[in-house]
Amino acid sequence: MLSFRRLKDTSGGGHPMPLHVAVIMDGNGRWARKRGLPRIAGHRRGMEVVRKLVRLCGENGVKYLTLFAFSSENWRRPAREVQLLMDLFASALENEVKKLHDNDVKLHIIGDLDRFGERITSLIKDAESLTSNNQSLTLTIAANYGGRWDIAQACQKIVKQVQSGELDDQAITEETVGSLLCTHFLPEPDLFIRTGGEQRLSNYLLWQLAYAELYFTDVLWPDFDDEEFLAALQGFSKRQRRFGQTGEQVGQATNA
Ligand code: IPE
Ligand code: IPE
Ligand code: MG
Repeated sequence: MLSFRRLKDTSGGGHPMPLHVAVIMDGNGRWARKRGLPRIAGHRRGMEVVRKLVRLCGENGVKYLTLFAFSSENWRRPAREVQLLMDLFASALENEVKKLHDNDVKLHIIGDLDRFGERITSLIKDAESLTSNNQSLTLTIAANYGGRWDIAQACQKIVKQVQSGELDDQAITEETVGSLLCTHFLPEPDLFIRTGGEQRLSNYLLWQLAYAELYFTDVLWPDFDDEEFLAALQGFSKRQRRFGQTGEQVGQATNA
């Protein structure tokens, strides 16, 4: 049982801590249903877990935290739930940003933001500009985000740059694509966590997760506490990331 909020380095010099953690916060609805509560009660409780996670990242040297708050497919939910989620998003932007700023957290919102109304759009703009110089943690919220949309919008930018002569089509590389995704300001995620028991990506950071270590847990997001997060970090610290090389090659490089 992990009793410290700060994990000890047991990796033997491997990858003790992920620099960037990307999370699918799933299971809010089921958490609420199990208690006979409306689904929104689970989403509200889930917000509290986000607050705790931000603090834990700071304490454990995680510099980038990217959370899936609303997918491009979540518009398919009942209109009432979508409306309540939008209200929760707006009130979080209104009430949490000052605290994030006081804790030196830089906030980014990524996704197809054109679909949000005026109120949310202006709250996003204010939050990003207020926190833009903060350095302790970069917190990125994916809202109306879809991995396929992200790749498609990068392709559109590439075509425009080629048509205007700014970019030579022979010079298009993986880096070009990466630099035009809406995560261009982030390093690739090292650790991906999905709560709620499903083992799928649900159209999250498809390009960016190519080499992330995947961690799935049955724990529902509102129950994802300090101990669960530290268990995920500890799991990560035991993985050997080979990026195509052999285990021996990686072992030699680590011991050198
Ligand atoms: C994740 O929890 C939050 C959002 C998708 C907004 P769910 O609402 O998907 O919870 P379950 O999967 O129905 O339990
Ligand atoms: C993924 O969860 C999106 C978010 C957590 C925001 P879903 O609950 O929407 O995923 P599916 O529909 O079960 O794949
Ligand atoms: Mg779900």
